[in-house]
Amino acid sequence: MRVVVLGTGALGCVFAARLAAQVEVWMLGAWAEGIAAVNARGILLHEPDGRLARVTVMACSDPNQVPAADFVLVLVKSYQTDRAAVWAGRLLKPDGLAVTLQNGLDNGPRLAAVIGAERTAVGVTYTGATRLGPGEVQLVAVQPTFIGPGRGATQLAALLTAAGLPTHVTDDIGGRLWAKAVANAAINPLTALWRVTNGALLASPERRALLALLADEAAAVARAAGVALPFEDAAGHVEAVCRATAANRSSMLQDVLAGRPTEIDSINGILVAEGRRLGVPTPFNEAVWRLLRGLTG
Ligand code: PAF
Repeated sequence: MRVVVLGTGALGCVFAARLAAQVEVWMLGAWAEGIAAVNARGILLHEPDGRLARVTVMACSDPNQVPAADFVLVLVKSYQTDRAAVWAGRLLKPDGLAVTLQNGLDNGPRLAAVIGAERTAVGVTYTGATRLGPGEVQLVAVQPTFIGPGRGATQLAALLTAAGLPTHVTDDIGGRLWAKAVANAAINPLTALWRVTNGALLASPERRALLALLADEAAAVARAAGVALPFEDAAGHVEAVCRATAANRSSMLQDVLAGRPTEIDSINGILVAEGRRLGVPTPFNEAVWRLLRGLTG
């Protein structure tokens, strides 16, 4: 059994390191320093309880050097999905399964367009991690992961669960994906703009009010799109994610601090476009989308 993780960022390192005890794991990415560090001394995984694990996996930047994979986990940034889809197409076995665990609403269709819907599954993870350096990651909070139906999805979920990353196969991956999108739409831009941890978003009534406005707009778009969200109270859902990942710096905050592009287009940008299409006003999501776009130039 071989799993290839696409992406060498924080979550890529967490999933690769945890799975390596169970199966053969390869990492494939475009970040030269990340690949070099993993090959030189393995992944350095700082566990939430303070333990440090050094885990050996194979890493490279050339898909032609990676042997055929039973499973591909897509953990690149959403603006790199199209390239990752081409990689997945090259190295996935004909009966293999690629699972996107990325932020954003449009990764599944983009992956399926290249490798075929029958080899694509959409997943959602709430696990939070912080990139400390090339190949080095702090696992902040292990939270549930969900995978939609697909050939081998149950086997992959069992593997991940055995690796200490509890994973559930669900028929309602659309609802789960939108639930995560609601959380991302509220948490990611605000943490990135205010430069605070997820938990600190709950620190004042002003912060909580804006969190709720963003969440409510996102939930209204989801409902107008016919999605049955797995909660009634969008703000309550987002606040629960903030509490569960309180110590985490969101991925968007990490991107802004490191001067990298953000996933704002795949998170708030898509919501604004969907809102327009469906006649749902999204003024707060549009404002944070423009603020983040302006921040990174
Ligand atoms: O993008 C992120 O940081 C994560 O999706 C989440 C769940 C908001 C936790 O930080």
